[in-house]
Amino acid sequence: MIRTSLVDTFDLSCPVLSAGMPFAGCPRLVAAVSNAGGMGFLGAAMASAPEVADMIRATRQLTSRAFGVSLSSPFVTNEQVARCASEKPAVVAFSRDQPQRHWIEELQSAGIAVWRHVASPAEGRVAAAQGADAVIVDGGEISSTPPYWALVNLLPAIAEAVSPLPTIAAGGIDDGRRLAAALVLGADAAWCGARFLASKEVLEFQRKPPTPAAMRSVGFIGGRPKSDFSVLASPAARYGGTHHGSSSATRTAASWEIKSAAEIVRELSEETSAVLNALYSRLGGPATGRDQG
Ligand SMILES: Cc1cc2nc3c(=O)[nH]c(=O)nc-3n(C[C@H](O)[C@H](O)[C@H](O)COP(=O)(O)O)c2cc1C
Repeated sequence: MIRTSLVDTFDLSCPVLSAGMPFAGCPRLVAAVSNAGGMGFLGAAMASAPEVADMIRATRQLTSRAFGVSLSSPFVTNEQVARCASEKPAVVAFSRDQPQRHWIEELQSAGIAVWRHVASPAEGRVAAAQGADAVIVDGGEISSTPPYWALVNLLPAIAEAVSPLPTIAAGGIDDGRRLAAALVLGADAAWCGARFLASKEVLEFQRKPPTPAAMRSVGFIGGRPKSDFSVLASPAARYGGTHHGSSSATRTAASWEIKSAAEIVRELSEETSAVLNALYSRLGGPATGRDQG
């Protein structure tokens, strides 16, 4: 079992989080990820305040494990935050813009951890100063805001800037090798988006596709239009589609198999352990052992 501070804090069995993707991060996916030992996030950015409350309640019917809600700061309303504060998910994550201080205080007073997406060390420091409990590092592979540093450069810089806050790696993590790399670079967990699109839970949810108007609005969340919604509109088209919100959707989509979310979590977790164990054996054991020998 891979233990990190986040794994311990939320009593998880592996450092795998499913990203709060609007129109995909539904209660069934979130509960399945959490029940499998990871932590799921509801994609609530486009949901009204009563819908956010309904999503949280529906998820709670399916799991007693920790799960979170993902909101998008430019669109957050006081009422959405109030519903979260009363429904008490374990975490509320704010993407993009700086969340208002009174939202952070309201949520934390209700015992809810507040996470913020950041895309530069400077943003990380602001988030830490504002009182965030952890930061999600949006690698340049997926970020809609500058400086677009690749995760391999950005993650260690932000981990150092916000230490001792936990950091979560986002962008292109869809297998154990990449998750292991993220841990080595300083992450406490991975925020995996596109890989979970190829889950049975999301395919089922998307049998009723979102309306074109809703898809257009979500496309502008990052301030930069996403040009191709084939990922959302048609699960089958995903394999040939592109999506600006996700690098792994285009990079390795051809190799994904549709599996249950539980299988995806288990596979990511087992692969990560296998990769780290193989690394140790390739290097002749943990570095300290070699130094002492
Ligand atoms: C279908 C889809 C929709 C997404 N929508 C949003 C969004 O509205 N706001 C946001 O901040 N991130 C959004 N993301 C990004 C995810 O939250 C996450 O950071 C990203 O998917 C991680 O990279 P990966 O897909 O390569 O694993 C979306 C991703 C996908 C695949």
